[in-house]
Amino acid sequence: MNEYDSCWLRYECVPDDRLDAYRRRCRHAYVAEEAPELSAVRDELRRALPALLGTDPHLWQHPPTTAEGFLAVGTPDDMAMIAESVPTDVVDDLADGGYLLKSVTWNGQDCLVVTASTDRGLVYGTFHLLRLLNTHEPVADLDVREEPAYENRLLDQWDTPFHRSVERGYGGESIFDWERLPDLRPRYEDYARLLASVGVNGVVFNNVNTTKPARPSANVAFDAFEGWQLLEPRRLEAFTSLASVFRRYGIRPYLSVNFAAPMLVGDLDTADPLDEDVRAWWRAKADEIYELVPDFGGFLVKADSEGQPGPYDYGRDHVDGANALARVLEPHGGRVWWRAFVYGTHEDRAVQAYDTFEPLDGDFADNVTVQVKNGPIDFQPREPVSTLFGAMPETDLGLELQITGEYTGQGVHATYHLPMWKEILDFDTHADGPGSPVGSLFRDDGEGIVGVGSVGEDHSWTGHYLAQANLYAFGRLAWDPEASAESVTEEWVHQTFGADEQVGDTVTRILHDSWEVCIDYETGGLGLMHMMHNAEEYLENHYDPAPEEWPGYHGATEEGIGVDRTSTGSGYAGQYRDPVAQRYESVADCPEELLLFFHHLPWTHELDDGTTVVQRLYDNCFAGVEETKRLRAEWQSLDGKVDERRFRHVAERFDEQVAQAERWRDVLTDYFYSHSGVPDEQGRVGDD
Ligand code: GCU
Repeated sequence: MNEYDSCWLRYECVPDDRLDAYRRRCRHAYVAEEAPELSAVRDELRRALPALLGTDPHLWQHPPTTAEGFLAVGTPDDMAMIAESVPTDVVDDLADGGYLLKSVTWNGQDCLVVTASTDRGLVYGTFHLLRLLNTHEPVADLDVREEPAYENRLLDQWDTPFHRSVERGYGGESIFDWERLPDLRPRYEDYARLLASVGVNGVVFNNVNTTKPARPSANVAFDAFEGWQLLEPRRLEAFTSLASVFRRYGIRPYLSVNFAAPMLVGDLDTADPLDEDVRAWWRAKADEIYELVPDFGGFLVKADSEGQPGPYDYGRDHVDGANALARVLEPHGGRVWWRAFVYGTHEDRAVQAYDTFEPLDGDFADNVTVQVKNGPIDFQPREPVSTLFGAMPETDLGLELQITGEYTGQGVHATYHLPMWKEILDFDTHADGPGSPVGSLFRDDGEGIVGVGSVGEDHSWTGHYLAQANLYAFGRLAWDPEASAESVTEEWVHQTFGADEQVGDTVTRILHDSWEVCIDYETGGLGLMHMMHNAEEYLENHYDPAPEEWPGYHGATEEGIGVDRTSTGSGYAGQYRDPVAQRYESVADCPEELLLFFHHLPWTHELDDGTTVVQRLYDNCFAGVEETKRLRAEWQSLDGKVDERRFRHVAERFDEQVAQAERWRDVLTDYFYSHSGVPDEQGRVGDD
């Protein structure tokens, strides 16, 4: 990977004190059968082992007959050594994707076994082993058993095929060059490797916006929205070659489709989901796709949302729409991912998804998953969790997270999403009584976790070298939502920046503190939404509501600020189960960081420590900037310790981040002052 970074798959030679133990077990390796996934495993070992061990390994074509130790990757059926090391029934019990890693003695030699019941599991197991070598972990007594928490761990690319832009993407143009397919670029395989190494098992290759929205909104990028054309026969043929690359890494391909495809791609004059011709059209289209791509995962649909067509256009509801598509995928084992991101008809958009979807619980087909954003608004720096989680027990649900940093600094700011995602996953919904955290949901077949992608053509992939950590952390949490933030971060930092302790500790501190810092200077930190003002023209798709638009979002008046979402307001708090609903309903009990999301309060309302609301907003904005400067200084302390390319890039980004944070702070604090008329106690804002 010269034209682009290797991210966490760097494979640098391990230190001397590990070399002997690793070489003893891995200088010889055997990868059992010939499934496409296994050829990918063999290729990965061919890349990784020479670099890690500083010596060329011997990759056997048949079970090794060497007198030395070796690494064996396969199922118990493939090899006596594996069958005798691990009981077959233990392997058979593993969920799809699960695997075992074991240190064994065979013929008196130290060996390693990677085994699983599926080929995909062998891919994940191999990447796990390579991660251990990459992070210099001991391998003498390995006894690892891993299974993914969720069946589906999907990446939604918001890539617009024919113009190669990425909506809300800050890493440059799309890596997918549809005009050149079926010609393949090496970068496709390297992307598949990155995703498989963290357990992602599905990719939706195009943007949810498949046509230019009829109702333009400042919220939506305008470049060109022609994703619907991917259902045309010649594009589907191109799609087969892309699918073949990702298949080798156990990744199923999906497409976003336009609900009006029977009219756009076909020549029908309606897309009414109950119309027989429309149904026949979708059926023929599904058959055509599966003929070409037998492991096709299914359709992702954004319907009746931000100008995209949907069942409402025909007086039907979301069940009619989703089920019509599900019917044609069902015989092929495909699934519809139907997004719940709808707003526009309710004064408070927070209440709408629940109002629309909860009454439909139980009516969706078995192969429909309703895909719900983590919060009720739209990937804000901090939101309460969606009220739909745990509220539709008869429906398969998926949790949608945003890996790209649309509202967290657009690839210019270093903002690590893992702490935010942990907060979401750990949140107790009380859906099934106390102890029902968000992460414990989505465990049924057909459920799962979805991340909105972040990569592009940039050398860094993600537009900011530190933002690679968000892609990594997404995959690791989608595999194991209970993994600790510390362990995931440590893995990423070590693999990405090496073993140097000062570098590791510094990068870890920057990452862990970055999210709260960004919330402070972007919003003031009390739960206000949609306040970020970027105003950097060159930034693609920057989010730029002017301050004059803000009052509508968060209820600023001369008297106070915040939106009443309790029973005296929009009633959103009441959509949660008790005791969550009670907690949010009460000013006294509502957590401070969400106070103004749920309550409209006087500017001078006193918080627990006696500080007023307006003063806390000022303080947080100023503290956010000071903290950003501290993070920048931390990074600067790594001069000479990180390669020049990454050091400079991140250092420059930090300079921009500080400048933007200062600008945000000034815009926000002026705004708070102009509405409240209350000057800052420390004289930083106002007329003192
Ligand atoms: C946000 C985002 C849009 C995107 C939309 C969605 O509004 O700004 O670019 O299309 O979410 O999730 O569909």
